[in-house]
Amino acid sequence: MFSQNPVFIPGPTNIPDRLRAAMNVQTQDHRAPDFVETFAPVLEDTKRVFDTTEGTIITFPASGTGGWEAAVTNTLSPGDKVLVARYGMFSHRWIDLCQRHGLDVQVIECAWGSGAPADKFQRILNADKAHEIKAVLVTHNETATGVVSDIGAVRRAMDAAGYPALLMVDAVSSLASMPFHFDDWGVDIAISGSQKGFMLATGMAILAASPKALVAMETAKLPRTFFDFRDMMAANATGGFPYTPPLQLIYGLRESLKMLFEEGLDNVYARHHRLAEGVRRAVQAWGLKLVAQSPDLYSDTVSAICVPDGFDSNALTDHAYGAYRVSFGVGLGEMNGKVFRIGHLGSLTEVMVLLGPTACHSSRLAPRRTTCGRPHRHGR
Ligand SMILES: Cc1ncc(COP(=O)(O)O)c(C=O)c1O
Repeated sequence: MFSQNPVFIPGPTNIPDRLRAAMNVQTQDHRAPDFVETFAPVLEDTKRVFDTTEGTIITFPASGTGGWEAAVTNTLSPGDKVLVARYGMFSHRWIDLCQRHGLDVQVIECAWGSGAPADKFQRILNADKAHEIKAVLVTHNETATGVVSDIGAVRRAMDAAGYPALLMVDAVSSLASMPFHFDDWGVDIAISGSQKGFMLATGMAILAASPKALVAMETAKLPRTFFDFRDMMAANATGGFPYTPPLQLIYGLRESLKMLFEEGLDNVYARHHRLAEGVRRAVQAWGLKLVAQSPDLYSDTVSAICVPDGFDSNALTDHAYGAYRVSFGVGLGEMNGKVFRIGHLGSLTEVMVLLGPTACHSSRLAPRRTTCGRPHRHGR
């Protein structure tokens, strides 16, 4: 159960005691032989979560945002064209990061609540006979809207257009909670982080890179130092790190993988689906609507819920926190005040999840149209 206040934010997630204990290790010499023996198997085992045998696992001491930056800077050059759809705050932020790196970003504007538009990607790729687009970027699970996108459909669209671009996928809030098939979907770079499905403290960006991405890396000219795949892979080849590794997180990841494999990845995904479905039934019973436009888009890690006109969703989240110390996610960006989010990922059981909707139900009388006066909780 929760050892502190329940968090139903869509990450960072609850850290099970077993993982907190695993991360509670004293400083060790990261150049000693036993560190080498620890780290290499962790990288190898992580491949199972991405469902890849072909990919290389690369970790950095960073959050998911650092993972985005590593993916882009290691494979692209200034002025390169990338294709991406904006359908929520996280796809928006990845676009922003690409623009700030001097990429030529072609953005497809989509309604928030929709998913990656494979058909529109295909039309654009078909028309671009010169193959100017170097990468297609997709947010698998848009945490701001509770929408999961069909990555296989994007791959099929790229293949149907005979298009050679890289496929980069943000799997920050899906990996280790929802099925992910790096090899089958032909993903070239997938990005995740330690603090969501892996149930760990924040601080490790976890990526997988395909052989094709590693070829692109050889000619990519965007500057990178801390995030350089080449330095990391050269050090990892002998079980080491190019700089001081986040030791506690590496031990945590080793234990997290054990936990995931003990439960069985398919059971982990089935549990997330079951719990998500329970939350969705509660939402339906309240007569409220999800932001996700249709059931095929429903995320099994986070539900974004619209409050009725005339209500302020921040008043609800503040009331739940103030009265019950239960944290929900606020609406982000244009959804602030209109939407709240229930995260249902990571270390959760049926009993734990029941607490969330119960607190939410009890918060239904939160005052109308209030502003909570605590701007730090409001989403940007
Ligand atoms: C889908 C998605 N992408 C990227 C990020 C950014 O990750 P971080 O906050 O770990 O930098 C998040 C964070 O919640 C996310 O949900």
